[in-house]
Amino acid sequence: MNVLLLGSGGREHALAWKIRNSSQLNNLYIAPGNAGTALHGTNVPFGVTDFHEMKRFVLNNDVDMVIVGPEDPLVQGVSDFFRKDEDICHVSVIGPSANGARLEGSKDFAKDFMKRHNIPTAAHKTITPANIEEGDRFLESLQPPYVLKADGLAAGKGVLITPDLKQAKLQIRDMLAGMFGEASRKVVIEEFLSGIECSVFVLTDGKSYKILPVAKDYKRVGEGDTGLNTGGMGAVSPVPFADEVFMEKVRLRVVEPTIQGLRREGIDYKGFVFLGLINVNGDPKVIEYNVRLGDPETEVVIPRIKSDLLELFIGVTTETLNEKKLEIDERHAATVMMVSGGYPQAYEKGKVISGLEEVSDSLVFHAGTAFKERNVVSAGGRVLSVTSLGATLKDALKTSYKNIAKIRFEQSYCRKDIGQDIELL
Ligand SMILES: Nc1ncnc2c1ncn2[C@@H]1O[C@H](COP(=O)(O)OP(=O)(O)O)[C@@H](O)[C@H]1O
Ligand SMILES: [Mg+2]
Repeated sequence: MNVLLLGSGGREHALAWKIRNSSQLNNLYIAPGNAGTALHGTNVPFGVTDFHEMKRFVLNNDVDMVIVGPEDPLVQGVSDFFRKDEDICHVSVIGPSANGARLEGSKDFAKDFMKRHNIPTAAHKTITPANIEEGDRFLESLQPPYVLKADGLAAGKGVLITPDLKQAKLQIRDMLAGMFGEASRKVVIEEFLSGIECSVFVLTDGKSYKILPVAKDYKRVGEGDTGLNTGGMGAVSPVPFADEVFMEKVRLRVVEPTIQGLRREGIDYKGFVFLGLINVNGDPKVIEYNVRLGDPETEVVIPRIKSDLLELFIGVTTETLNEKKLEIDERHAATVMMVSGGYPQAYEKGKVISGLEEVSDSLVFHAGTAFKERNVVSAGGRVLSVTSLGATLKDALKTSYKNIAKIRFEQSYCRKDIGQDIELL
């Protein structure tokens, strides 16, 4: 079959690498892709929300399946766009309808959904300019710190956490006044939960589901989880504290009611559900939903899947996922992100990357790269995600760091302590 994959990050490179090995694949196209995805298919130069160009391309190239990497096209209704157009409704889309994508596109919707289906999550209240005083009273009822979230998509920057009640009240007003543009016209106040976070991906055809290996990512730029938030500096899988007992709670208390809840509400959902979980004294609570795979967790989860991923996707589109097998590699996976110096603040792009051909025993997924003349150059803050598998987490990390030492670009930086907190548990 011919597949079009949407996106241009490490997640898409990992997907392209995996799908390339499918016995079902004929042609693979990636829009817009990067220098890494070009190793496994053909990059095509249009944006992930350019639906009209997408339609033209799909028709001209006999595309059978569209796999959606990032959230923007989903929230903007790419699945519905295909389903409702008789020229392209035969093309299957891996990714939910716009209705389903509200689980990520609106934190208010997601919190209400969880409440309706009794899914464990932090207490909350949604505030608009009409009920600011209620927001103040709710804040007063909570213990610090205070969690404030922009309702809409804010590229991972829409959450503020402050220990100071007065500041929280001021920040709500700033958010409602447009601090995150349209995304913060509504603000969700949440009770603060304390615990360790982990990420669980679920693949569903709307009826049945498969739970993929659990992962943990490292969001802060500095060692010891300090400094500014980033798109992710590394990840590991599996996660020791997410043991069988914990995962069974996740399945019964979160995954089952989520999939059944979507179904009962008549929401068309074929794709990934990402559960951002927090382990509160052994009990899982949901911090957030995403409606796609996360990055860099994908770079450790996908390499641990032994089954043919395209076969699983076919199971999703034909609603026969329950008949498919998901086989998992028991080994540990670790990925360490090489980023541009200065990231997540100002940084330079266009640095020539060398040493990639010296890498052995690791997978190098490109997160932000491009071709310039005959070179591979950096093209983003997060540049390369170096993944390794090993019998232990320590082995996997050792291999990734060994290879990182061989890869060079000016001002490159990585965290040296990925996975160390887990090793100490
Ligand atoms: N209720 C909460 N209690 C404690 N920490 C929280 C809570 N909600 C969010 N956080 C922290 O803020 C981060 C970002 O919040 P999240 O809801 O995942 O928003 P987004 O990923 O859209 O920015 C979480 O990963 C978590 O570390
Ligand atoms: Mg998050």
